[in-house]
Amino acid sequence: MSAEIINGKELAQQLRNEMKKEVLALKESSNITPHLTVILVGDNPASKSYVKGKQKASNEVGISSELIQLPENTTEQELLTTIEDLNQNNSVHGILVQLPLPSHISEQKVIETIEPEKDVDGFHPISVGRMMTGKDTFLPCTPFGIVTMLKSKNIQIEGQHVVIIGRSNIVGKPVGQLLLNENATVTYCHSRTKDLTSYTEQADILIVAIGKAHVIQKQHIKEGAVVIDVGINRLEDGSLTGDVDFDSVVERASFLTPVPKGVGPMTIAMLLKNTIKAAKGLKN
Ligand code: GUN
Repeated sequence: MSAEIINGKELAQQLRNEMKKEVLALKESSNITPHLTVILVGDNPASKSYVKGKQKASNEVGISSELIQLPENTTEQELLTTIEDLNQNNSVHGILVQLPLPSHISEQKVIETIEPEKDVDGFHPISVGRMMTGKDTFLPCTPFGIVTMLKSKNIQIEGQHVVIIGRSNIVGKPVGQLLLNENATVTYCHSRTKDLTSYTEQADILIVAIGKAHVIQKQHIKEGAVVIDVGINRLEDGSLTGDVDFDSVVERASFLTPVPKGVGPMTIAMLLKNTIKAAKGLKN
């Protein structure tokens, strides 16, 4: 078997084309232009590049976006005050603070200071709780992007065994919750899991968010598995690659996401979706 590749770049482009129309319609019906404010603290090159991608995509669909760049030595209080000002500003619909933050700033405090109505990352404990209880909320962008990719290919989720490697608050934990909401059976694996292969080989859908190049290979998966690669690893030659050994896994999987052009562009597309949703307002 040779897997069908799920092209996240193309799907994200399709979604952006639809969102462009939605933004125009919102402007016409309510005179609202969604506005996203992104805060970047310090000059982590990867973060800078992600933020640039988010701004470019926002502008493409007609979302107005603003970047607040703060120096590495910004104090926690200065950052919290900046967020509180944005919370009060009615023309700002979405607030995103790019992570990771310098170590002298508490990420949790920052996340909890963002008004949940503007929490387009879906990281605030209120957003997380609303997601867990199935209420209308902002879904975290990478997990939301993964579920959207699976649905775009009509891949069955209900009753399927989903195995997730990784338990971060940004990807692993929430993607399991979203797929549980879709009636999957979910197993979480992580760095302390014993005999990882005994789990991965059971997966109907394997979601890999380890952060290390090419850990998952053909012999770790079952024939016909759906494999979603969330890893973004930079090789010595500067190229990007996933946590999955694409060339071997493609021979055994039924569907596979590439890196780049897989989950990454979908994460950004979902941020745009959340920003439009923020401009329209959450339902109770
Ligand atoms: N850093 C890596 N991924 C993300 C994300 O989805 N949102 C934010 N704010 N920072 C990140």
